[in-house]
Amino acid sequence: MPLIDKFGRQITDLRISVTDRCNFRCVYCRSARPEHHMPSDDLLSWDEHERLVKILVAMGIRKVRVTGGEPLVRAGVEDFIARLKALGVRDLSMTTNGHLLAERCDRLVAAGMDRINISLDSLDREKFERVTRTKAFDQVIAGIDAAQASRLRPVKINAVLVRGLNDDEVEAFAAFARDRNLIMRFIEFMPLDADRAWTRDMVVTGAEVHRRISERWPLVPVVHERSETARKYRFADGRGEIGLISPVSQPFCGFCSRIRLTADGKLRTCLFSKEDHDLKSLLRGGATDREIGDEILSIVSEKEKGHRINEPGFMPPSRTMVSIGG
Ligand code: 5AD
Ligand code: SF4
Repeated sequence: MPLIDKFGRQITDLRISVTDRCNFRCVYCRSARPEHHMPSDDLLSWDEHERLVKILVAMGIRKVRVTGGEPLVRAGVEDFIARLKALGVRDLSMTTNGHLLAERCDRLVAAGMDRINISLDSLDREKFERVTRTKAFDQVIAGIDAAQASRLRPVKINAVLVRGLNDDEVEAFAAFARDRNLIMRFIEFMPLDADRAWTRDMVVTGAEVHRRISERWPLVPVVHERSETARKYRFADGRGEIGLISPVSQPFCGFCSRIRLTADGKLRTCLFSKEDHDLKSLLRGGATDREIGDEILSIVSEKEKGHRINEPGFMPPSRTMVSIGG
């Protein structure tokens, strides 16, 4: 049975968070205070993750992204990637902060990973350290170098823009995309930070980014699929591409094709879902693949129409990004 929700959206993309741990503490995601982590018994084993993906592939999932926390901090993630590839996942990627990427890139490629997204929120070392609360600028740049030297394509760089923090770097990021011939994606800050500091005036809209970059370098729209999160543009006069991901100012929920699986085996039908759905108890309680598939189908059919960030009374979900997976 294909995964289609009650609004007729077909679900073809799965994001799997394999850990809620991370070796960074980005200000728009985690808190400076100590945070609680999932006890290891609560984490799905690699076998359990694989079983769920197998069930989901039979239901039409074609694209899988492995996320965290930081996926490279969980030992064995390369073998997991290889197992996903063997299940027939055509489009297999990872979102990483890049810290451990230089040393792991070859193994990820050998495992069959197709592409990669690397977070980089500042091109200035001191500011990078302020955003991530970590001294790892050189390692992340080395990770980007390794990805570009490998077979992984495309290489996408993600920057979450926060007003007053890194919004002065929009043009510098665009220049980075041009110099390195890569895809630079500007992501609007969403109310998913652990400190609950998000306010609307901290959001730097995609429209502003487009205006500022196109004043310097003319941009040409690139066709994209309806379900894609990014509006894409190339530079009229050269290499590189930008993507504008504007969930706050221009929600793209209407064509959403995504569901998410958390590290502790909960299915989430939206980043902003009020509740998640426990699949781990089914897995551990002896349910058959058929029973699990039926349960997933009934959860997905109730996927929410969209997030309500722009509606009065909006409340952020109790889980923050580090435990949902981007
Ligand atoms: N708003 C927008 N993006 C976020 N990410 C983490 N927290 C937020 C937030 N509050 C992004 C990371 C990474 C992906 C996993 O999610 O930068 O690109
Ligand atoms: Fe870690 Fe990513 Fe959250 Fe930064 S945004 S703290 S890298 S999970």
